[in-house]
Amino acid sequence: MSHDFFQSVVDDFSAVDELIKNSLTSNIPLVEQISGYLIDAGGKRLRPLLVVLCARACGYEGRDHIKLAAVIEFLHTAMLLHDDVVDASDLRRGRKTVNAAWGNPASVLVGDFLHSRAFEMMVEIGHLRVMEILSSATNTIAEGEVQQLANVRNPDLTEQSYLQVISRKTAMLFQAASHAGAVLAGADPKTESSLRDYGLHLGLAFQLIDDLLDYEGNAMDLGKNVGDDLAEGKVTLPLIVAMRNGDKSQTNFIRHAIMSGGVENLSAVINTVKDTGGLQYTESSAREECTEALGSIAKVTPSIYRDSMEDLMKFVIERSN
Ligand code: IPE
Ligand code: IPE
Ligand code: MG
Ligand code: MG
Ligand code: MG
Repeated sequence: MSHDFFQSVVDDFSAVDELIKNSLTSNIPLVEQISGYLIDAGGKRLRPLLVVLCARACGYEGRDHIKLAAVIEFLHTAMLLHDDVVDASDLRRGRKTVNAAWGNPASVLVGDFLHSRAFEMMVEIGHLRVMEILSSATNTIAEGEVQQLANVRNPDLTEQSYLQVISRKTAMLFQAASHAGAVLAGADPKTESSLRDYGLHLGLAFQLIDDLLDYEGNAMDLGKNVGDDLAEGKVTLPLIVAMRNGDKSQTNFIRHAIMSGGVENLSAVINTVKDTGGLQYTESSAREECTEALGSIAKVTPSIYRDSMEDLMKFVIERSN
């Protein structure tokens, strides 16, 4: 939690961390062992941060935002457990993934445990609109993941469809975190939708940069492997742009790499993606989303929490992990 944008909510956040650790009890030792393994590895905790910042920015004085933040982090962690199975990834948060260490069944089942623990805690909060936001968000995220699966090894995926996938699979949870934080705080309708839109655009920028880092990042900083997207034949914006801007042979090369999957050609693909402006375009798309996010909160009452939201935006663009 060393980043500046945590400073305005540092006390709230130690309560969030505490609750996250204390909510993983289970009668089944393997459940505790595996969920603890991933949670202890840390993670950036950006989504629970959004909950806390948005609730506080709306003047919230209660305590339920702490639980809501933990709920959101558990939903996120459950998704990661499933995602690493689906993506056949073996490094996460600088450690072996759960699927690599214990196998796919354990990763899927403990993901289910975290998902359902999140819903138990959400019901404890007992706020109907918050429940609506979270349940419909998780449903949309699942659809986004399936939509992405349906497009694996499809070199004809359009930029528009790609944006639809990432708005569902990733931006939706950022959006739900900000929106639910505002709703819990009883924000007025305008502020509520401003914060919701902030989350959406921040989430889009976040996944655009994630997809960029999958080509130009390094595993040491990221705590996960680069090249996983190509290995699984996942078509992301850097590749879409490379096929759009490249000459005939570059375009054919990328098309072939998508259809065959695998990372044998990773460094040649990276070079082509760079030469055709695919990385640059992806970064500038992320910057545009950040500008939108900034615009969304321009009319929210100024506060140290809103300042943190602006700092968080800069981090999302400049991050290397
Ligand atoms: C990873 O999210 C999943 C994506 C949406 C790309 P994070 O990069 O926020 O994961 P942690 O929680 O910090 O490990
Ligand atoms: C993240 O997509 C979406 C979800 C976790 C639902 P990625 O598959 O790109 O995430 P990483 O790169 O494995 O973290
Ligand atoms: Mg993945
Ligand atoms: Mg994935
Ligand atoms: Mg990724």
